Parts: sequence; structure tokens; C-alpha cells
Amino acid sequence: MTTPPPLGDRLKGMLEPAQLMTWAMSHYIRVCAEAVFKKGEIFAPILQIHRLRDEAFGRFWVEFSTPAPNAAPPATASETETETDTFQPGRNTNGSSDLIPPLLRTANGIVLDIGPGTGTQMPLLRSPSISTIYGPEPCTGLHEKLRAKAIAEGISSKYHILPCGAAASQLLPGLRESGTGVTEAYDSDPRNGIFDTIICVRVLCSVPEMERTVDELYGMLKPGGKLLVTEHVVNPWRTAKGSVLARVVQSFYQLFGWSFFIGDCALDRDTEGALLRAARLDGGWKVVDLEKNFAWSVMPYVSGTLVKKS
Ligand SMILES: C[S@@+](CC[C@H](N)C(=O)[O-])C[C@H]1O[C@@H](n2cnc3c(N)ncnc32)[C@H](O)[C@@H]1O
Repeated sequence: MTTPPPLGDRLKGMLEPAQLMTWAMSHYIRVCAEAVFKKGEIFAPILQIHRLRDEAFGRFWVEFSTPAPNAAPPATASETETETDTFQPGRNTNGSSDLIPPLLRTANGIVLDIGPGTGTQMPLLRSPSISTIYGPEPCTGLHEKLRAKAIAEGISSKYHILPCGAAASQLLPGLRESGTGVTEAYDSDPRNGIFDTIICVRVLCSVPEMERTVDELYGMLKPGGKLLVTEHVVNPWRTAKGSVLARVVQSFYQLFGWSFFIGDCALDRDTEGALLRAARLDGGWKVVDLEKNFAWSVMPYVSGTLVKKS
């Protein structure tokens, strides 16, 4: 899966983010036009840039993560697990969606699914070994879809949508307000942790202060708990498998508004480094099973499992 494709395909792949950015941009223009011409909020595009941008990203992500009307519905459980691959163009960038099912199948206990979006990964979280799932999703425009997906997947009774981000300053109050008592052991002694499994799928690229958030998430893992990660990262251009051209293209997209239009997503984060450093005070993780994928591309991925020492 990680064998580089022919040069032509690699170059074509470098244009995929442009396709996504144009799509997201068209939603931003539409949201601005609606604010000005429909709602009469003529200064909103200047004074409320962030509100309009978040609304546009919400609409983009709903459209992006919704199966095309002509996509065949999955018929079996195993087909459901690869549902993300039948989505619209760009959905399965580099085949990265194939990395997710085997990983999420190992989730168990009390699960934190950070930034679940519209619940794309929910079909992979139906295992009876999962007792509860918390989904902190700050983009409230996605909550309706997320709720509907939890019902459709038959897990609504154990899925708690939280209207907050993953930073501890937001997440802990959000968890306490859920009224489930999930933080009780942590509140009496933080060494108890909260979660058996934390899922980070295409989200650490978007959280503000990623390094700090990753440290905080590590602190919320129970001893022996695991972090499951599939994240796109900065191109490892200094290594033999990396690509200088892909790294330059990453910078180009960053410069021309990728983060602005794609919900604060950054293409150039050293997420693997942050994850490894998070366990430094405990002398490292008990298990580090991470794989680097698509190192030649604009969206290289790090994917795998990190287990906290008991
Ligand atoms: C690229 S989408 C991925 C959604 C989902 N994990 C998936 O695999 O389909 C990134 C999601 O992270 C959410 N997000 C952005 N900032 C966040 C934060 N600080 N904490 C939690 N989620 C965040 C976005 O609203 C968005 O839904």
C-alpha cells in the first residue's frame, strides 16, 4: 500500500487538495453572499469572518462526508467498514481511509472520538466491547448529522455528543456536563485517567495548540489505555522516502488559504513527534506501533496504536 505510484499519479495526487480547497471555498463564497444579500448582514464578511467561515466549513464537511446519491449502499458489515471509500472525489485521499477500519476495530471500554465530524467512523464503533463513546465536536452545524448517524448505527444510547473542542479546558467541563459521572475517578486522582481508548482520525491537524492538547489527552488516558491515530502530517522530506516537491506543495497550499477554508486544518504538523513526546514524563509509551504511509505525497499519514504504561 505504501509503494509509491507512478510519477504521473503522484503529480495528480498533489492537485487533490486544490480540488478540496476549491470546493470548500465555494461554500465560503455562498455563505458570505447569503449573509449580505439574503440576511442583509452587509458587514458580516468583514466583522464576522470566523462565524461565516465555520458555517461554510460545516456545510462543506456535511457535503464532503455524505455518500453520493448514486453510491451503492453497503450491504454487509465488512462493506460498511470501508464505507468511506465510496464517498465523493477526494474522500479517500491516497487510500488513507483503508488505514482506519483495522485500527478502530480495536477500540474498547470508554471511548473518546475527537472531532467526529458527521460520524463517518461510527460504523466502526459498534462493538459491544465499547461501553460509552464521547464525541467532542466544536462545529455544532455537524451535530444534527452526527445524531442521525448514531441513531442509524444503533449506538445513540451510548454516544454522547459534546459541543466542545478536545482541549482539556473545554473537554473536562463538557464531560462533567454530560451528567454521566465519567470524570469522577479522574477528579479524585488524575492518575486514574478517564478513557480506555482515544481516537484521533484526521483531527489533530485542526486542533489549536496541538502539542498541548496531545499532552492533555495523554493525561486523560487510563493506565494501559490506548490512543488510536490516523493523521496526515508534514511530509518527511529530509528522509529518503519523503519528497521535497510534496513538502513545497504543502507550504503552497498553507500559504494560499488551506487552513482558513478547511476548518483550521494544517498540512505541515509533526503530529508523530507530539504524540511520542506526550509520554516523556512517564519514560515513554508502553507500546508504539505507528506506521508511516504515503511519504511521497502532500498528505502523508501516520497511523497506528500507542499504549500507555500501566
Ligand atoms: C477532517 S474532520 C474529521 C472528522 C472525522 N474524525 C472523520 O474522520 O471523518 C476534522 C473534524 O475535527 C473537528 N475539530 C476541529 N477543531 C477541533 C478541536 N479543537 N477539537 C475537536 N474537534 C475539532 C472539526 O470540526 C471536524 O469535524
